[in-house]
Amino acid sequence: MTTLDFSAYKRDGKKISMITCYDSTFAKIIDQTDIDTILIGDSCSMVMHGESTTIPAKIEWMAEHTRSVRNGTSKFIVADMPFLTTRKGIDYATDCAGKLLQAGANAVKIEGVFGQEEVLRHLVMSGIPVMAHLGLTPQFYQAFGGHKMQGKTEQAAAKIMEEAKLAEEVGCFSMVLECIPHDLATKITQASGIATIGIGAGVNCDGQVLVLQDMLGMSGFKPKFVKQYLQGLDLIKNAMNQYAHEVSESVFPGEAN
Ligand code: KIV
Repeated sequence: MTTLDFSAYKRDGKKISMITCYDSTFAKIIDQTDIDTILIGDSCSMVMHGESTTIPAKIEWMAEHTRSVRNGTSKFIVADMPFLTTRKGIDYATDCAGKLLQAGANAVKIEGVFGQEEVLRHLVMSGIPVMAHLGLTPQFYQAFGGHKMQGKTEQAAAKIMEEAKLAEEVGCFSMVLECIPHDLATKITQASGIATIGIGAGVNCDGQVLVLQDMLGMSGFKPKFVKQYLQGLDLIKNAMNQYAHEVSESVFPGEAN
């Protein structure tokens, strides 16, 4: 997969599957699957660092997770630009995005377009592919008054529609649409020349993204838009309990071990 394939998939009506990943163990597993592309999300803040929001994510974390994932896969990797890294001027944003590409990312993802059009244009012109992220952008959760669905009123929907057009204009190669009404996501997808990747935005987006630990049922986080494809928590706990039991019963290590 390359940046060009996102548009090619859209043109050919082929859906794009994206999944988050933060470490090389899972990257090696994903590498052996049909998943199209990987996101090193700033959700690593919650999933890997135990924080309650994405705000604490730092560029150093993102670069380390990116390196770790790159060491396990040759798939196309998008890495998140963490909180405020695109709001401190072009030079700082370029340094941060450069760190992610040097760590092995193929592209960066940036929340919001309004107010940072020049930064986005500069990154694109510098050879750094940018995926936009619109709708419920978790880095704005304080401003939104919580992690709430966005674009519910006509006015709010029109604003997201306008931001989606701007994302394409400034040169983004695709965009994530998070937690917006499905008909709005459909309209954006139909109107846009770049691929939309949805999460909580309905089936008509050009692709879908889920957090790995959520879809494997490992995180205990199950909003309506998450589908658990595995009961990971139960499976892992059972295996660990079996190990603990076998140690206490002197069953493990056996002859073969
Ligand atoms: O950080 C993340 O995992 C994300 C996805 C939920 C889109 O941005």
